[in-house]
Amino acid sequence: MTEQVPASFRAFRIHNDDQGYRAGVDTVGIDELSAGDVTIKVSYSGINYKDALAGTGKGKICRSFPMNGGIDVAGTVVASGSNRFQSGDEVLVTGCGLSETRDGGYSEYLRLDSNWIMPLPDGLSALDAMTIGTAGFTAAMSLYRMEISGQKPDQGPILVTGATGGVGSIAIDILSRAGYEVHAISGKEEQFGWLAALGATECISRHQLEWSGRPLESARWAGCIDSVGGDMLAGICTAIKPWGNVAACGLAGGIGLKTTVMPFIIRGVSLIGIDSPLCPYPIREAIWPRLANEWKPGKLDMIRNRIVGLDELDGIFGGMLEGQSLGRVVVKL
Ligand SMILES: NC(=O)c1ccc[n+]([C@@H]2O[C@H](COP(=O)([O-])OP(=O)(O)OC[C@H]3O[C@@H](n4cnc5c(N)ncnc54)[C@H](OP(=O)(O)O)[C@@H]3O)[C@@H](O)[C@H]2O)c1
Repeated sequence: MTEQVPASFRAFRIHNDDQGYRAGVDTVGIDELSAGDVTIKVSYSGINYKDALAGTGKGKICRSFPMNGGIDVAGTVVASGSNRFQSGDEVLVTGCGLSETRDGGYSEYLRLDSNWIMPLPDGLSALDAMTIGTAGFTAAMSLYRMEISGQKPDQGPILVTGATGGVGSIAIDILSRAGYEVHAISGKEEQFGWLAALGATECISRHQLEWSGRPLESARWAGCIDSVGGDMLAGICTAIKPWGNVAACGLAGGIGLKTTVMPFIIRGVSLIGIDSPLCPYPIREAIWPRLANEWKPGKLDMIRNRIVGLDELDGIFGGMLEGQSLGRVVVKL
């Protein structure tokens, strides 16, 4: 049975025109939004660093305007032209061009391309899935790729940077669930207790960290999930044990990378690039069920910092870009 989509509903729209770059809650009709063969009633979205860049205009994320924000979405199918999905199915999408090349999840209803839609895996609620969101999927994809490259818990501790953020906090949770010893680097010393409760056995202050600048330092960690980039990533590569893996997934500290080949050719360290928005569908199919089972973060209630409405987004984006994140913020539609 096809549920009626209301003639108009609310969406957080980003504009860039004669009046400048601005974003806020608009009233829209479904035909104003990107086309797609599946229509969903949205239940939750989330706030990722990229959403803050798009919503404030601090990063060139949206390729056309106006555009709904929200790179993640979960909801229930209300109309489907695809034989893979039927009305009533619970689904999710992370990345896949949402809020970049097509309207994103900050919208009460949305049309999606069925090629990118994942069924909500058994064992995850829509709220859990959006607490995980792109940030948690990225953390899981980092571990997935590190393990393909041979990472094992008995090689030693895994370092997580940007530890209080969305990627970092879920990485700590997943890694400790998967049997790894986890060390965390954070700029928020007052949150070391929170990081320990998530599973970090050692917390290191980002403000007291100094790298020698030598091509190789004494090897401390067996691998790393890094959402910071820049000098942090360069320094970490010099301190990874032989045959360890570093998943480079973020740029919260900068986009530069000044390094030497020494960690790679003397210690066999692998630097793994992580791009979650364009992650191929078969890899999504491999990772999401794990996120609902053996890698299901056990501390999602702690990581889910707030649940907000569309009207509250603006107030959160600025703090996120200033490094103030603590866990994840979920958006309820
Ligand atoms: N490659 C991908 O597919 C992908 C997917 C998702 C996210 N990302 C990237 O990953 C990064 C984190 O995303 P997120 O959603 O986790 O953001 P977030 O929730 O805002 O977390 C970012 C964390 O980075 C740390 N940080 C902030 N500014 C910093 C600075 N100047 N130097 C060093 N550390 C800083 C802070 O942690 P502490 O205070 O604890 O140090 C902050 O909580 C972003 O760059 C984002 O674009 C990439």
